[in-house]
Amino acid sequence: MSDIFDALVQTFHGESPYAGFDAAAYESRVLGWAFDNPVFEMLVTEVKPRLIIEVGTWLGASAIHMANIAKAHGIDTTILCVDTWLGSSIHRIMPEFRADLGLKHGFPTMYYQFLANVVHAGHDKTIIPMPLSSDAAFDWLKRFDVSADLVYIDGDHEGQTVYADMCNYWSRLNPKGVMFGDDFVEAWPGVVNAVNLFSQKNHIVPQIVREKWVFGFWKEFPPVVDVADADAGYAQLPRIS
Ligand SMILES: C[S@@+](CC[C@H](N)C(=O)[O-])C[C@H]1O[C@@H](n2cnc3c(N)ncnc32)[C@H](O)[C@@H]1O
Repeated sequence: MSDIFDALVQTFHGESPYAGFDAAAYESRVLGWAFDNPVFEMLVTEVKPRLIIEVGTWLGASAIHMANIAKAHGIDTTILCVDTWLGSSIHRIMPEFRADLGLKHGFPTMYYQFLANVVHAGHDKTIIPMPLSSDAAFDWLKRFDVSADLVYIDGDHEGQTVYADMCNYWSRLNPKGVMFGDDFVEAWPGVVNAVNLFSQKNHIVPQIVREKWVFGFWKEFPPVVDVADADAGYAQLPRIS
């Protein structure tokens, strides 16, 4: 367990969110999307992040995957997982996703399945849940001046939110940190548009590794973009369809 893990747990939760949690009541159920992409291993082993911030965690597949890679390579990392654990609009649109929310009286309970998955994977001293919306979590991180070496963006996939997440969390990156994200594919035009806009505004070219986009790969960074610009900028970008 690292100093960073302890400090963040204390500051954000006050006590370990796993304390007294009965993980045995749940079987491990780690489902996710494209978390086996080689970019995770490339980035975790190259950047050797002391802190990773993941925006959008769902059942923990990508976070657990990164924790496994770090452990296998002897990299002491902490992963801060930002998620409301309420799902996105798509989880209420597609019945097969809705089922994964674990609804109880209409309210999602998948957070507990996520906690259990982390405990079963043996990463309860590495992964810290941060159950907030991405913008509220950003405010908290800014307030406590927390910054990361690696940021993974995989929360809401609507263009304006992805773009706002990119702008916000880019400003929480340490020098030589890397920000990457999921779903640079035609099926998610909001993600593609946000990546293109971010690229234009910052004069940087994303690297695309299969469907993942990567900014700042082994490079110095340009100045942080103006977050207030996010919505106006997005509206100017031609949509793909
Ligand atoms: C695609 S899933 C994440 C998948 C995960 N990274 C994986 O590979 O297994 C998207 C997640 O983003 C979360 N989410 C959506 N909008 C959010 C927001 N505005 N703030 C925080 N989390 C959000 C949802 O609750 C959902 O769990």
